[in-house]
Amino acid sequence: MNRTVDYELLTKQLEGLTGQVPYEITNLSNAAALLWESLPDINWAGFYKMEDGQLILYPFQGKPACTRIQVGRGVCGTAVAEDATQLVPDVHEFPGHIACDSASNSEIVIPIHVNGKIWGVLDIDSPNLNRFTEKDKAGLERFVAVLEGIL
Ligand code: SME
Repeated sequence: MNRTVDYELLTKQLEGLTGQVPYEITNLSNAAALLWESLPDINWAGFYKMEDGQLILYPFQGKPACTRIQVGRGVCGTAVAEDATQLVPDVHEFPGHIACDSASNSEIVIPIHVNGKIWGVLDIDSPNLNRFTEKDKAGLERFVAVLEGIL
């Protein structure tokens, strides 16, 4: 199996999947499924949305996950507090990491912006240490940029 992700193709697929209806849960459900099918070595891919000042679980693939995360807590809450992508090679070294699935060993969380404000985050977990590279970060930030255009 070719384990290199073609992020240009992935972004085109996302544009094709999300251009048809304006409903965010519909589009994010397909976005999570596309990531799940396309990225090797992951055990969770999905979204948290800011609601009432906290992150709330949104469409995802993988095991059931925690339903709310406070800003500043865990990897997701840190991504919001710092307004910056968190690329975590080993979640066990990340202070306050929230273990929704004990199989997770590395993680990437990317903030999503709408109208200049943080809408929420894209969160992807892997059972492998050091799963996500700078190339993944750049590719997934492009993926998020497409989503920002349809949310
Ligand atoms: N590990 C995350 C929590 C969400 S789950 O990974 C789906 C965190 O520390 O914020």
